[in-house]
Amino acid sequence: MARNILVTGGAGFIGSHLIDKLLSMGDCVTVLDNFNDYYNPEKKRLNIQEHLKHPHYRIVEGDLRDDASLQKVFSQDAFDGIVHLAAMAGVRPSLLQAAHYMDVNINGTQKLLDRIAEYSPKARLAFGSSSSVYGGRAGESFKDSFIETDRVDQPFSPYAASKAAGELLCYSAHHTNNLQVVCLRFFTVFGPRQRPDLAIHKFCKLISNGQPIEVYGDGRTKRDYTFVGDIADGIISALTYDLPGYDIINLGRSEPVVLMDMIRCLEKHIGKTAEIVHLPMQTGDVPFTYANIEKARRVLNYEPKVTFDEGIKRFVEWHRSLSSAAQTVELRA
Ligand SMILES: NC(=O)c1ccc[n+]([C@@H]2O[C@H](COP(=O)([O-])OP(=O)(O)OC[C@H]3O[C@@H](n4cnc5c(N)ncnc54)[C@H](O)[C@@H]3O)[C@@H](O)[C@H]2O)c1
Repeated sequence: MARNILVTGGAGFIGSHLIDKLLSMGDCVTVLDNFNDYYNPEKKRLNIQEHLKHPHYRIVEGDLRDDASLQKVFSQDAFDGIVHLAAMAGVRPSLLQAAHYMDVNINGTQKLLDRIAEYSPKARLAFGSSSSVYGGRAGESFKDSFIETDRVDQPFSPYAASKAAGELLCYSAHHTNNLQVVCLRFFTVFGPRQRPDLAIHKFCKLISNGQPIEVYGDGRTKRDYTFVGDIADGIISALTYDLPGYDIINLGRSEPVVLMDMIRCLEKHIGKTAEIVHLPMQTGDVPFTYANIEKARRVLNYEPKVTFDEGIKRFVEWHRSLSSAAQTVELRA
């Protein structure tokens, strides 16, 4: 029988890829998304263009914090699975809008947890957490990977604090209402439809247009970039594995890439050389991220399939296809 899955933030980057897969597996999907203007909401409309044609797809356009919208979402059959991805997701902007990040990522998450307890208490919840919760842990060593049992009490940004708090809210909902929750810590996700505020997307656009890119720090910072299709596969496994009630699992690629190597890889696939402007490290940024994915391998049978080079190739091809589509529209206009 088709499963009934709710995806909050399902019009966004990760959510839309997840939904491609869920619909192709025969699941029924409900989305709650407010199409906020953190980045151009037209991009989110494009993300869901194909989903809207699908008979098993339902979208509620509304805010996570809005009672009436939540009421609509939960007005039909109970859900089998819920993937909570709706959030304010940027690290640097969170320094300027900390209270708003807390409102969406903490109050919004609590409101959702309350509704799940009331209307869908048997649903399994996968919470979209982040490698940023490791914060201070990231400063300790450039060698050791981040493991789920590491300390997460030194967030480097309001965003990181809000994600760590989200995990705690999930635990308390598990303890008090016996909700079944797995917190998935995603490590810098990339691929087609990536948010335009993230470095790979920003750099790709600027290098393609022959404009300079701003590199913070000396270019030696490292990120454990993970292809979005692999993240979606990890989320799907998390909806069915043998969950012990509450759990935390890293989803990364476990092969950190040095920032300058990321830029070289983009140059190779774009076919242009970047003009680099060096600026000091930004407050809120961590020097490196490196996922230990032994637990994901063991319990989810998770194995990242797309190499960094292949992922960048696919991203650049997607970006190019967008630019040529935009040019065609301009020519026609
Ligand atoms: N992209 C990454 O590298 C990454 C890494 C770690 C964690 N995450 C987490 O994964 C999730 C998805 O990230 P993404 O990169 O796809 O971001 P995204 O911004 O593309 O997607 C988030 C979606 O949530 C929606 N949304 C935001 N606030 C909402 C609200 N109050 N009510 C309803 N909908 C709301 C947005 O409109 C958007 O469509 C987020 O929770 C993010 O924190 C992302």
